[in-house]
Amino acid sequence: MTKRLVSPSILAGDFVNMERSVRSLKEWGADLVHCDVMDGVYVKNITFGMPMIKAIKGIAELPLDVHLMITEPERYVEEFVKCGADYLTFHPEASKCPLETLKKIRALGCKAGIVLNPNIAFKDWAYLLEECDMLLIMSVYAGLGGQKFIAEMLDKVKEAKEYIVKNNLPVVIEIDGGVGEANAKEVREAGVDILVAGSAVYRSDDPARTINIIRGE
Ligand code: DX5
Ligand code: ZN
Repeated sequence: MTKRLVSPSILAGDFVNMERSVRSLKEWGADLVHCDVMDGVYVKNITFGMPMIKAIKGIAELPLDVHLMITEPERYVEEFVKCGADYLTFHPEASKCPLETLKKIRALGCKAGIVLNPNIAFKDWAYLLEECDMLLIMSVYAGLGGQKFIAEMLDKVKEAKEYIVKNNLPVVIEIDGGVGEANAKEVREAGVDILVAGSAVYRSDDPARTINIIRGE
């Protein structure tokens, strides 16, 4: 079995001291840095954009896992890759041309992926996996940190895992929302490769230990 990875979401970090929040991730043994970009249109909230990704890239020492919650992501993918995204994922129903957008991200030398909100069926977008390196399954509705994990989404993970194995696709499955020490084991067992965790890591008394527990070590 391949090693699971943990990608803490800096949305739960300290915005007054983002440098500390990002540098700590390396010290705590995290694998990736999950960056939530929200535009106030696709989701209600607004977080940060390209300048922030660029700034984080300069100090992170870990790959950047950039989750776009924006309308018509095709308008911005090139800039996000230039700013340092290593993984760039977007919600396909927010795009006018999801397949082309995935191809574009890959052509720019970045790993590409789609994100499925809880109300979006896997089968409707499965055809996109041929151009994906990552499939991000939301276990909360995108737009806010600190929400409760929707356990039914593990069925979607299993469905996707089966499809990926059956079609022999080199796609990793990531899950995002409400993941922590209490549910990480069932998440891993469902077939998730990369676990995003925001509140669980940043609000932990011992984040390094929490990351290890989530990773299953
Ligand atoms: C929600 C974001 C998540 C969020 C996860 O829109 O995509 O990445 O920050 O936070 P927790 O782990 O606190 O649910
Ligand atoms: Zn996210």
